[in-house]
Amino acid sequence: MEIINSVKELKAKVAALRDNSKTVGLVPTMGALHAGHASLVKRSVRENHATIVSVFVNPTQFNDKKDLEAYPRTLFADCKLLQSLGADYVFAPSVEEVYPEPDTRSFSYPPTDTVMEGAFRPGHFNGVCQIVSKLFMFVEPDRAYFGEKDFQQIAVIRAMVADYTKRGEEWAKRLEIRPCPIIREEDGLALSSRNTLLAPNERDIAPNIYKALKDSVAFSKTHTVEETKQMTIQQINAVEGLEVQYYDIVNAITLESVTSWDDAEHIQGCITVFCGAKPIRLIDNINYK
Ligand code: PAJ
Repeated sequence: MEIINSVKELKAKVAALRDNSKTVGLVPTMGALHAGHASLVKRSVRENHATIVSVFVNPTQFNDKKDLEAYPRTLFADCKLLQSLGADYVFAPSVEEVYPEPDTRSFSYPPTDTVMEGAFRPGHFNGVCQIVSKLFMFVEPDRAYFGEKDFQQIAVIRAMVADYTKRGEEWAKRLEIRPCPIIREEDGLALSSRNTLLAPNERDIAPNIYKALKDSVAFSKTHTVEETKQMTIQQINAVEGLEVQYYDIVNAITLESVTSWDDAEHIQGCITVFCGAKPIRLIDNINYK
């Protein structure tokens, strides 16, 4: 496994792979890797000749400076894990390398980037599109892997790739976005780099989020969308130390809220919960149909 810090070197490695007709899988990450990230890397290693994992805490997607500063950085351990998984290249650039000048591009794909996380974290998805589009243009991968943990992020990235495809970009036409299932702890808590920031008592109550989501799927069989939404929010808010920021039940493709279970073929519930005193912001989601 090779560690690459510069865009120039990254492009040279990719060009050599292409010359040898090798397929390339890209796994974008912000590091502090866990079994959720590992599942994406394993899949890319299985499906491509070469796998590139980017490890870059992207400042433009953080709308809260403290959140950016607190974000865990563990590059040494990340590289050890990636090597054991069979990744071929780690792209770990500096901020200056990725943004030699400020990125002034703005991306807009409503409603995917305006609802839920888009509403509560202004500018977040613009930053995600900035970094992910740059990575796509540097690597021009055959496949890119994203976790359903960030359900909305996948919808926004799909919209961005569709936009570049419409504009005639060859890399976008070829690229396949591969969504991967959420990996959870045994007690149901979705793995997240932010979980390391939870105090022990906060870690103990956090699994109630997934428990409520699972209960809500059973509840939904005999109740309306609105009743299901309210039940889920109440069940979580009843736990001391947890507070729902939003819970929305949406069309899984367009992310528009649904009001009836017949409104869409695929329906997802997407939640954000504040946990503990700091508080730590935890996201999760579940499929209804
Ligand atoms: P990060 O939070 O590091 O996540 C990298 C990828 O791992 C994302 O696609 C995310 O959905 C996936 N992932 C995280 N936890 C997971 C879990 N428990 N199960 C399955 N997949 C999981 O998402 C980002 O970074 C950034 O926004 C990025 C796309 C890298 C752009 O900066």
